[in-house]
Amino acid sequence: MGKSIAIDGPAGAGKSTIAKLVAKELGFIYVDTGAMYRAMALYLIRQGIDRNDTLQIEKACEDADISISYENGRQVVLLFGENVNDYLRTEEVGNMASMSSVNPKVREKLVALQQKLAAQKDVVMDGRDIGTVVLPDSRCKIYLTASSQVRAQRRYDELAEKGEKADISKIEADIIERDHRDMTREHSPLKQAEDAVLIDSSELTIEEVKNAILAEAKKRL
Ligand code: DC
Repeated sequence: MGKSIAIDGPAGAGKSTIAKLVAKELGFIYVDTGAMYRAMALYLIRQGIDRNDTLQIEKACEDADISISYENGRQVVLLFGENVNDYLRTEEVGNMASMSSVNPKVREKLVALQQKLAAQKDVVMDGRDIGTVVLPDSRCKIYLTASSQVRAQRRYDELAEKGEKADISKIEADIIERDHRDMTREHSPLKQAEDAVLIDSSELTIEEVKNAILAEAKKRL
């Protein structure tokens, strides 16, 4: 088992931005577990599977060939060998990922892949259940959150930068719905591990959050 930093928290709290910076600083690899759930969701969408059809989801999950590689330090998610990174960040895929990730078969398959990666390398891994389920023995666990308003604003700005129009109240409603689903699901719900440090990024800059995590890593690893 390599060294690890486990970062959990709700959608839009800044986990991936921060985790990438921390990984770079420490020379660890960054593992974006949400991207794996999104790749599974993309496969389900491509197969035309209904998001409520548990049996079809489980069957597709058995067939799905998802793997991870690294190109210039960047995580690449491969679906049957195809680099699908460019298709993962849509609202449609995010919503399907939130629905299909409640399924224990989907979780079992992707958790095994995540644990294998952490066994081979030093990792900064982000997701919802990293400190509680995937890497329960990690010595450095962070729970990163921010208010739903701030998270909606960040998402809105991100879309505006890409020239996409969006309705901020709809974004916030989606965020609240997704949080609720992620936090109340039966298997591996999103929650702060008992030994995780809580960081609320609502009023902090990226630099401040990065430094707070690096300070924890220095103490704990
Ligand atoms: O972090 P993200 O928005 O890319 O994640 C997409 C969905 O995947 C999210 O709604 C919940 C799910 N997920 C999960 O259940 N467990 C993880 N470790 C990571 C993501």
